[in-house]
Amino acid sequence: MKRIRIQNVITETDSQNYTAIEKWILDIGDMLECDLFIGIGFRNDKELLLEKNHPITPPIKERIEQVRHLYIREEDLPIYNLFIDQIIQAVAQNTKIAITKKAAVIYRQASVILDEMFSNPEELENVPKSKKVVNTFVNTIFSDAHAIESLIKITAYDYYTHTHSINVCVYALSLGSYLRLKADVLEELGMSALLHDLGKSKVDHAITNKNGRLTYDEYEKMKHHPSYGYAIAVKLGISDRRVLDGIRHHHEKLDGSGYPDGLHGEQITLFARIIGICDVFDALSTKRSYKDRLSSYDALHLIKETMKNHLDMSIVDDFIKMQRHEEF
Ligand SMILES: [Fe+2]
Repeated sequence: MKRIRIQNVITETDSQNYTAIEKWILDIGDMLECDLFIGIGFRNDKELLLEKNHPITPPIKERIEQVRHLYIREEDLPIYNLFIDQIIQAVAQNTKIAITKKAAVIYRQASVILDEMFSNPEELENVPKSKKVVNTFVNTIFSDAHAIESLIKITAYDYYTHTHSINVCVYALSLGSYLRLKADVLEELGMSALLHDLGKSKVDHAITNKNGRLTYDEYEKMKHHPSYGYAIAVKLGISDRRVLDGIRHHHEKLDGSGYPDGLHGEQITLFARIIGICDVFDALSTKRSYKDRLSSYDALHLIKETMKNHLDMSIVDDFIKMQRHEEF
C-alpha cells in the first residue's frame, strides 16, 4: 500500500478498503488499537483522524460529531469488534444512548459472534459468548420500554443462517417478555433460540447456502440439523433440559409430522413451541434468493390460515398481540 501525505491528509491509494463504524459509540478517553479515519471531499478520500493507541480527546470527539461517517481499515475490523465486545454491556446500560442506536450496535455485535460461532461451532467459548449476547438483549429489553420495538425493527430482512438465529432470538425474547417469563427463564429461552440452528453448521454448506429450493434429498439431509445442534450443545456442556429441547424440537409439529423425533402435542415443550413459531415467522418474513419476503401481517395471516395443526395457535395469538402492542 502506498501512503501519500499531503498537509496531514493521508490518501490511501490502491486497494485499501475502509469500513464505516458507529461513530457515536466512541467517547472521550476511549482508545482503539487501530487508526481512525474520516471521509473528505466528494470522493470521500480518507483522512487520518486519530492514530491507533491514542485516546479520544475532547477536540477529536467534537470532530467526530461533525463528520457523517467514521472509518477504520477493513483489515482492522477484528480489532474494532473486540473493542465493542469489551464495552457492549456499558453501552446497553447507558441511558444517554438512544435505544435505536443501542439496538443497532447490539444486533451488529451479536451478528459478529454468531458468524464466528457457525464457523467454529464446537469451540467451548461459544457458551459464554452466547450468554453475553442474550444477557445484553435481556438487559436492554428490561431497561427500556421501546427496546423490543427497536430490536424488532432492525431484524435483518435478508436471510442468512446467523442473522436468522439472532432474529429468532429477538422474537423469542420479545414474546417471552410479553408472556411475562422471568428474567432467568428468558435468558435460557434466548440461549435456546440463539443456538437453535447451530446444527446447520454440520450440514453440507452447498445445501445450507443453496440459492434455491432444496431437492428432496437435500431436505432430508437438512432435517438432521436439530439433532446435530442438540449434540453440539451437549458437547459444549449445556445441560438445561429446556434449552436442549428448544434446539432439538423446534421443527416438531403438534400433529406429529415434524422432525427429528415425530413428537405430538404436549410432548413439545414451551421453548420448542415458542422457537418454532419465531422460526417460521422469520423464515416467511425474510427474503431468500428464490422468494420475496412477506410483510409481518401476511406472514402471520399465512401462519394462522395454514399451520393450525403444526404450531400452538394460542402462542401464535400472543405473538400477534405482542406485535400489535409493539406496533411494528
Ligand atoms: Fe431449524
